[in-house]
This record gives sequence, C-alpha cells and structure tokens, in this order.
Amino acid sequence: MTRKALITGITGQDGSYLTEFLLAKGYEVHGLIRRASTFNTGRLDSIYSDPHSGQDRLTLHYGDLSDASVLARLMGAIQPDEVYNLAAQSHVRVSFDSPEYTTDITATGAVRLLEAIRETGIKTRFYQASSSEMFGQAQEVPQTERTPFHPRSPYGCAKVFAYWITVNYRESYGLHACNGILFNHESPRRGEEFVTRKITRAVAHILAGLQTKLNLGNLEAKRDWGYAREYVEAMWLMLQQEKPEDYVIATGETHSIREFLDTAFGHVGLDWTKHVEIDERYYRPAEVDLLVGDATKAKRQLGWEPKVKFTELVKLMVDSDLQLLKDCREGRTRVTS
Ligand code: NAP
Ligand code: GDD
Repeated sequence: MTRKALITGITGQDGSYLTEFLLAKGYEVHGLIRRASTFNTGRLDSIYSDPHSGQDRLTLHYGDLSDASVLARLMGAIQPDEVYNLAAQSHVRVSFDSPEYTTDITATGAVRLLEAIRETGIKTRFYQASSSEMFGQAQEVPQTERTPFHPRSPYGCAKVFAYWITVNYRESYGLHACNGILFNHESPRRGEEFVTRKITRAVAHILAGLQTKLNLGNLEAKRDWGYAREYVEAMWLMLQQEKPEDYVIATGETHSIREFLDTAFGHVGLDWTKHVEIDERYYRPAEVDLLVGDATKAKRQLGWEPKVKFTELVKLMVDSDLQLLKDCREGRTRVTS
C-alpha cells in the first residue's frame, strides 16, 4: 500500500526537500499551504517541472496552523501514516516583534495538530521540528539530547513548548511522536532573511555590481551549519524506528558569522571588510552566542551522519546564487536545487 505523509510547512526550505525525498520513496504526499496574495510554492518548482518527480502523488491543501478545524478535517480525510510538523513562524528576530503570533503558530500550532490526531483517532507517526534555539544560552558544549534548555527568544520559548507537548502526547497517549532537535541547516533554498543566504545572495549581487554594501548585525555568534537536503532524511529515519525518541541532528562543527563571510566572499576573491556595515537593527534583544551539536545518538541509532560540511556548504550556496543571478539576467527561469 502506498504510504501517505502530511507535511505542514511544505512551501518552506525543509518542506520542499522533504517532499522530494518522500515522493522519491513512493509516498503519497499532502501539504498544508497558506493562501497568499503572491505564489508561495516556488520551492516546489523542481517537483512540478520534472515529470518523473512523482508530482501526480502530491496534493496541496489550503489551511493554517491557527485553524484547528481545517487540521482535524484534513487529518480525517487523508489519514496519513506520517505527519511532519515543519510549519512555524521560524525567524528568531521577528519573534521579538511578534511574540504572541509566534507563540500561536510555533507553540499552539503543534498542539492543534496533535489534538487533530487524537480527536480523529488515526494511527499515525508524528515528527516535530524542534530546534537548537531551545538550548539558547547553552548550558554545556556540545549540546546533546540531555542538555537542559535555556531559550533566548519568543521563538525559542515556543519551540520548547512544542517539544514538551510532543513528549507529553507520546507519554500520555502512546503516540509515536519524535522531536528532531535540528541545528541550523541551510541550502540554496534558504529564506533570504536568514544570515547565510543574505550573505551568499549579497556576494553574487556585489560581484555583479548591483550592490556595494551589506548590512549585518552581530558577527560574533557561532552556529553549527549543515546542509538541509541531508537533514530531511534524518526526519524520515526517526519515524521509521520502532520506538519514538528525540534526536539531535548537527555537524559537530561551529563557525562564526565572520568565518562565513571570509569563506563566502573569499570564494569569489572579494574582501568582505570593504562591503559589510554593522547595523544595530539586526541585533537581537538577547543573543544565542554558541551552538554546536553532538549527533552521536543519531549516528548510532539512525545510521545518519552529515556529509556536507561548512566550507562545501558555503561554496555551494554562493555558486547557486551566482547562477541564479546569471539566469535571471539572461531571462531564464531556474529551479533552485
Ligand atoms: P521556513 O523556510 O521558514 O518555512 C516555514 C514554513 O512554515 C513555510 O512553509 C511557511 O509557509 C509555513 N508557515 C508559517 N506560518 C504558518 C502558518 N501559520 N500556518 C501554516 N504554515 C505556516 O523554515 P525551514 O527552514 O524550512 O524550517 C522548517 C521547520 O524547522 C520550522 O518549524 C523551523 O522553525 C524548524 N527549524 C529550522 C531550522 C533551520 O535551520 N532551518 C533548524 C531547526 C528547526 P509560507 O511559505 O506560506 O510562509
Ligand atoms: N537573520 C540575520 N540577519 N541574522 C544575523 C544578521 C542579519 O543581518 N547579522 C547577524 N546575524 C546573526 C544573528 O544575530 C544570529 O546570531 C545568527 O546570525 C544566525 O541568525 P539566523 O540566520 O537568523 O538564524 P538563527 O540561528 O537565529 O535561527 C535559525 O536557526 C534555528 C536553529 O538554531 C532559524 O532557522 C530557526 O528557525 C532555527 O530554529
């Protein structure tokens, strides 16, 4: 029987890679999308432009994590074998401006989905997109599944709630529910308002003479950056285990924004110090200074480990943005890999 998956956040970076991954495995994939005044399905273009992608097994449904009745209706109608909750107000800086909205979607949205599963009584497996932001002011280095949380933003607090409510439904109702505690993961499909993509896009624009300055905030923060395409496999692997558990997914390396700038600008022979200006507006009221994960458990139990590391990741993102700009200037539309 064809297995069915429901993905919230299907139009996002991870949602698009996970959809490709599951279609390639033969799944019937259902995705929740928000109605927007402009198209928000651009990241799914690779699927719709490839007749062999399994696009006939992909169905999109309008809905929102704020709308419990839609979630229950979809759960009952689709009866998915696996549910991946990737939807969130996912921007940390924005969560300081919109804490209540962030809580509603990123925290309460997870309960709405879990309740939809419980109320409809379907037998499904549940993945919650938990985050290294929960470690915040990290209590130990590196961070593991046992490291205590100390979130530093409304987003981080909301993700801590979603983490625990997932654990609670596992313990209370025997739901096969897992938290993937994913450290930062990037790709050519990363939103342009996150620091890595903001930098790689700027490199392409500066090289082409379309931009001279790049305004950034704190350059000292360190992150454990991996490649999103590889991280979605870990999500799937978690739901294939007999026993539901929580896993850290990370590369085990940490690098500062400065190092990212060195590598990205250096890749095309530019000196970032001539272009970057510090803009206080990009600072956060409270910062997460250092994240680095220990994914030993995922390696041992899931057989998962990262292949693409920092330098390769930065270069592939810069190269993609160079190509994207070239195609755009030459009037070609291009599907971002
Ligand atoms: P992303 O690119 O920002 O995608 C977020 C997705 O959530 C989009 O599809 C967005 O839809 C959807 N969404 C937002 N608000 C919604 C709402 N009210 N109802 C329904 N859908 C809504 O995020 P990502 O990088 O793919 O990350 C996926 C998940 O993993 C998120 O939960 C994120 O917090 C978490 N996470 C990410 C990382 C990382 O480094 N990328 C690390 C750890 C955890 P639109 O396209 O309509 O905006
Ligand atoms: N976005 C952004 N823009 N960040 C900047 C900038 C800037 O102009 N300048 C410096 N930074 C710093 C931020 O202060 C932060 O320390 C770091 O760059 C990374 O910021 P983001 O790329 O916005 O990512 P994040 O680490 O805050 O959050 C991402 O990773 C989390 C996992 O740890 C998001 O994807 C979250 O959804 C995810 O949970």
